[in-house]
Amino acid sequence: MKNEIKNVGIIGSGVMGHGIALTFARYGYQVTMNDISQEFLDNAMGAIRAGKYGLDSLIQKSKITKEEAETVISRINTTTDLHDLKDCNLIVEAVPEDRDMKGKIFNELDKICHEETIFASNTSGIMISDLSSFTSRGAKFIGMHWFNPPQIMKLVEIVKGPETSVETVDLIKSLSLTMEKVPVIVNDSPGFFTTRFINSWLMEAYRIFEEGIAGIYEIDQMSKLAFGFPMGPFELSDLIGLDTILHISEYMFDEMKNPAYAPPTLLKKLVLSGYTGDKKGSKGGFYKFFGIHAEK
Ligand SMILES: NC(=O)c1ccc[n+]([C@@H]2O[C@H](COP(=O)([O-])OP(=O)(O)OC[C@H]3O[C@@H](n4cnc5c(N)ncnc54)[C@H](O)[C@@H]3O)[C@@H](O)[C@H]2O)c1
Repeated sequence: MKNEIKNVGIIGSGVMGHGIALTFARYGYQVTMNDISQEFLDNAMGAIRAGKYGLDSLIQKSKITKEEAETVISRINTTTDLHDLKDCNLIVEAVPEDRDMKGKIFNELDKICHEETIFASNTSGIMISDLSSFTSRGAKFIGMHWFNPPQIMKLVEIVKGPETSVETVDLIKSLSLTMEKVPVIVNDSPGFFTTRFINSWLMEAYRIFEEGIAGIYEIDQMSKLAFGFPMGPFELSDLIGLDTILHISEYMFDEMKNPAYAPPTLLKKLVLSGYTGDKKGSKGGFYKFFGIHAEK
């Protein structure tokens, strides 16, 4: 079932935003991708074409033809002006994990977009009730939490705020299914299920390393070999982005006051030194900072 969503606005074209934009476009939706500079948007279009999970890799694997790839590209427009999103039926926000930044953007969009437009946030853990309070559309505000890389990962954690309507939940659920995702619905709480779960695991791994019990590579190796995890906690951290993890853990600790969620100094030290993970504009992540050359 296709739904009434045709035009999707994506705010933020970074690690998650460009992958979400590509996924929507691949499944036939018109996408308008917004960021603060045209340079960032051009980089994102470059990653959509030639990134590790981009269209070129799909052509190489014979999953799509060159012509289909061009059709996908033609469905994506870029803009630095939020007003160009005024006719979107759905907004998916993927800017950094900062409550005030997200709130300001939603507040602005609330005035620009039609009242039927659905607002979804890809926040990793900020409460949906908190973000929706910046708008006048609680019933049409929802968490649509994708996983990295969005082109590949199947789960969409749908977060139902206290005011989110049943219609909005059903629509985002059916929309996710049209993109061959597996939607799971959860109730609003800091970190929802997935981030609360993974955050405590990551923080504990950082502390075990800080206490000198085992090295970074060794912790990653043990996590994979003992438990069958596809990635260890440090590899996963470098992929997610250490700044994102720091923001999430600070927010989770502030909200829940559970010391298990508090970020250790090590994480803050790396982020402040410009080591924010394996992404553009960063000096690298844990592996680079500690000079570990092992294959991840
Ligand atoms: N990285 C992950 O693995 C992951 C997974 C799930 C959810 N998330 C969440 O997704 C969101 C985005 O994370 P990311 O890793 O893609 O971050 P990122 O830093 O890679 O990208 C954020 C993008 O937003 C842009 N931006 C900043 N201010 C903006 C503004 N005012 N208007 C428009 N664009 C703006 C930045 O220029 C950047 O391109 C965060 O809330 C994060 O918690 C991240």
